[in-house]
Amino acid sequence: MKRYKHLAESVRFKRQGGHWRSIASNEKLIFAGEGRSAVVFRIKGTDEALKVFYPDKVHIAKEEADIYRLLSGVPHFPTLHEAGGTYIVIDWVEGKTFFQCLEEGIEISTRHIQEADRGLSAARTRGLNPSDVHLRNIMITTAGSTMIIDVARFRQTKDCMNWEDIKTAHSTFYTKPFFPKRWPKRLLNMLGVLYKKRLLPVHRAAHAKNPQ
Ligand SMILES: Nc1ncnc2c1ncn2[C@@H]1O[C@H](COP(=O)(O)OP(=O)(O)OP(=O)(O)O)[C@@H](O)[C@H]1O
Ligand SMILES: [Mg+2]
Repeated sequence: MKRYKHLAESVRFKRQGGHWRSIASNEKLIFAGEGRSAVVFRIKGTDEALKVFYPDKVHIAKEEADIYRLLSGVPHFPTLHEAGGTYIVIDWVEGKTFFQCLEEGIEISTRHIQEADRGLSAARTRGLNPSDVHLRNIMITTAGSTMIIDVARFRQTKDCMNWEDIKTAHSTFYTKPFFPKRWPKRLLNMLGVLYKKRLLPVHRAAHAKNPQ
C-alpha cells in the first residue's frame, strides 16, 4: 500500500534561476535538505524521510529504490519503506552531514570514516559500485554512528574516486592537530569547486596511491 503517495504529490516544483524550487503544501512535511536530483523532507511524527525527485529527475526514484532493495540489511544505510514513481521513503537519519560537521566544527573521527568504509565495502559485495559519495551524502547520527544517505549513483559503471579522496584528505590533513576542524560554508563550497576542477592536492595524493 502506498501510504505516502499523497504527500509526495503535495510537493510542487517551479524552475527558478536554473534550479528547481519546491513548494510543500502539506504541514506533515518538514524540509530537511536538497540536492541535484531531489528535495528531502522529514514526515512529521515519524522516523521516515520522503525524497521527492525533480520533474526532470523522476527516473532516479526507481533506480534509487532498486539500489536500496539490494542494500537491504547492510549496516550504515537507511532502510527503504516505500517507493513510487516520483519519490522514495527511507529511514529518517537524525544527525549532521559531514559537510555540516565541517561547518560547525563537529569532529569527524577515524571511526566514522571506517564505518562508512565498511558500509561501502558491503555495498560492493552486493555487486554495487558506490559513486558520488560526497560530504553531503554521509551523515553522523546523534548516536554517533555513520550513515550513507544517497545511493542513487551506486550502479554507475565509471569508477568514482570521491570516497578515496575523502579518506586521503581525512588521514593526510584533517587528523593533523593544527588542521582547522571548522570551515566557513563559502570556503567549503569553494573547495568543492576546486576539487571538481582537480586543483586540490588530495587528488594527487590519492591517485599516486591508486594509479589507474
Ligand atoms: N534519510 C535522511 N535523513 C535525514 N536527512 C536527509 C536524508 N536524506 C537526505 N537528507 C538531507 O537532504 C539532503 C539532500 O538529499 P540527497 O543527497 O538524497 O539528495 P540528492 O538530490 O540525491 O543529492 P545529490 O546532489 O548528492 O545527488 C542531504 O544532503 C541531507 O542533508
Ligand atoms: Mg546527495
